[in-house]
Amino acid sequence: MLHNKRITLFITGGIASYKAAELTRQFIKAGAVVRVVMTDNAQKFISPLTLQVLSKNKVYTDTFDEQDAEVVSHIHLADSTDLTVIAPATANMIAKMANGIADDMSSTTLLAITAPKLIVPAMNVNMLEHPATQSNLKKLQSYGDTILDPDTGFLAEGYEGKGRMPDPYKIVEAATSLLIERDESLPLKNKKVIIAAGGTKERIDPVRYITNDSSGKMGYSLATVARNLGAQVTLVSASSIEQPFGVTFIAVESARDMQEQMLKHYETADIVIMAAAVSDYRSKEQSTQKIKKSSDDLELVLEKNPDILAGMGKDKKRQFLIGFAAETNDLEKYAMDKLVRKKADMIVANDVSKQDAGFNADTNEVIIFQPDREPIAIDLKSKDEIAFDILKIAIKTINEK
Ligand SMILES: Cc1cc2nc3c(=O)[nH]c(=O)nc-3n(C[C@H](O)[C@H](O)[C@H](O)COP(=O)(O)O)c2cc1C
Repeated sequence: MLHNKRITLFITGGIASYKAAELTRQFIKAGAVVRVVMTDNAQKFISPLTLQVLSKNKVYTDTFDEQDAEVVSHIHLADSTDLTVIAPATANMIAKMANGIADDMSSTTLLAITAPKLIVPAMNVNMLEHPATQSNLKKLQSYGDTILDPDTGFLAEGYEGKGRMPDPYKIVEAATSLLIERDESLPLKNKKVIIAAGGTKERIDPVRYITNDSSGKMGYSLATVARNLGAQVTLVSASSIEQPFGVTFIAVESARDMQEQMLKHYETADIVIMAAAVSDYRSKEQSTQKIKKSSDDLELVLEKNPDILAGMGKDKKRQFLIGFAAETNDLEKYAMDKLVRKKADMIVANDVSKQDAGFNADTNEVIIFQPDREPIAIDLKSKDEIAFDILKIAIKTINEK
């Protein structure tokens, strides 16, 4: 998404400006073209040379350092920006931006930029909470700028509070989301995708449950890739890995919770992906108190959980329904059976007995089954790449219908 995008990164004079070096590196790694502008005070914290080396571009610091007679540099830079990131954004720069002040290279260029702006405030908690800063941030939002909420944690001042600059990867995610939101040409634009991920937990008592080895990684990769393709994504998750940015996240625990949430969003969904490992059975009794160790044997009676995929297949209208089959043997037989029995439009089958595929691994190897189409085998690659292939094939099939 950031490939070849021209990002202008403004670094202002906050203690977090050292993190802007890593941010620049991550933008470059994502394929962006990065031009850096620094205030005089930012240069007291970090050298422009560092940013020049990392961005592979000269760093802008002075409005009147006009090196190219053909252009006015701050206007040229503003006009050639696809995305603006101000990180860290000082209280001072936020105030200047909110009031149209243009008295140095950074504030002057910022006033001339029409491309979307992501502002990353970072400051002492009291500076952040001051009504002047809060009102300036609201004003900037009303101008259409996006504010990334600061993290709460240990501040440079030596105490806890809100105001920390989020880690660079979160800024990259937020920048990516901003570009996605505004790109009308993406293939899943205005499409709603709901995804179930993770292994459900079926309670036995308040501290014990039945679950499985699913990490939720495949579902999370699908959520991230669907978001990158422009979809509005709802992720119904029984996993505790870090939430992807820019998706509506719903945490669930049991199969029944998951079913309830999936059905709530099913009606309006365009694509539905059941990438969760739903427990087939749950304990018939759920003790409200911790079960005590008393007798030598403890009998646990299990009852069947609802089949979420089959239930949605039965009520299918326009939704494109994708299910997963995690098998240890006879992959094709079970996958084809599932495709028909559950009225799915696609079954993604993987052999979970293989070491680098399936549960918990970062990679996967799958075969895609669709009615009346030849199976498509996808060789071992990262779960993000597999997710991209799955969605690409689904979009192709939807478009051909
Ligand atoms: C050690 C030190 C750390 C500072 N950290 C911050 C900060 O994190 N956030 C902030 O808004 N201001 C911070 N300031 C104050 C700004 O540097 C000051 O308001 C300055 O005028 C901002 O200039 P600029 O916005 O042009 O970069 C800090 C100042 C010093 C001396």
